[in-house]
Amino acid sequence: MSALVIWESLTGTTRKAADLVAAGLRAAGIETTVSPAARVDLAALSAARLVIVGTWTDGIFVVGQKPGRAARLWSLPFMTGKPAFVFCTYAVDPGHAVQKLAAIVEDRGAEVIGGQAVSRFHVERDCTALVEQVLDAVLPVS
Ligand SMILES: Cc1cc2nc3c(=O)[nH]c(=O)nc-3n(C[C@H](O)[C@H](O)[C@H](O)COP(=O)(O)O)c2cc1C
Repeated sequence: MSALVIWESLTGTTRKAADLVAAGLRAAGIETTVSPAARVDLAALSAARLVIVGTWTDGIFVVGQKPGRAARLWSLPFMTGKPAFVFCTYAVDPGHAVQKLAAIVEDRGAEVIGGQAVSRFHVERDCTALVEQVLDAVLPVS
């Protein structure tokens, strides 16, 4: 089982979240690569059984929230048929940014299974919740 975490970040929070998610997956025995959205590791994408895509929330803080740098995300390489999770970091209120990111990632061919809003003030807590979602979905019950 291998995974790829793709991130887009302006000031570093989402990059940190991507690294935390990757560390959590590795701790569960999943070989995980981390790539910026601008330079996706295509070999890792091809090998990945699971993709996680994260970006930041862009809006007017309480209205019009959408995934940050959406244009770049709409141009991500195709991930046809791969199960995926998405996350958006935010400061105040993510609105529907996570659902909008899910729609973009589905447009790239992935099958989005879940998503998580990650507060920039509680990055570890919310990334742990995301890792739990992923592990619940992909690890066989023993
Ligand atoms: C232009 C801009 C717009 C933002 N709009 C929102 C918003 O509408 N709602 C919100 O909760 N946070 C908003 N934020 C905060 C960021 O989403 C948040 O700080 C995020 O964690 C930053 O991630 P990054 O460090 O990876 O760039 C905005 C930040 C910027 C720079």
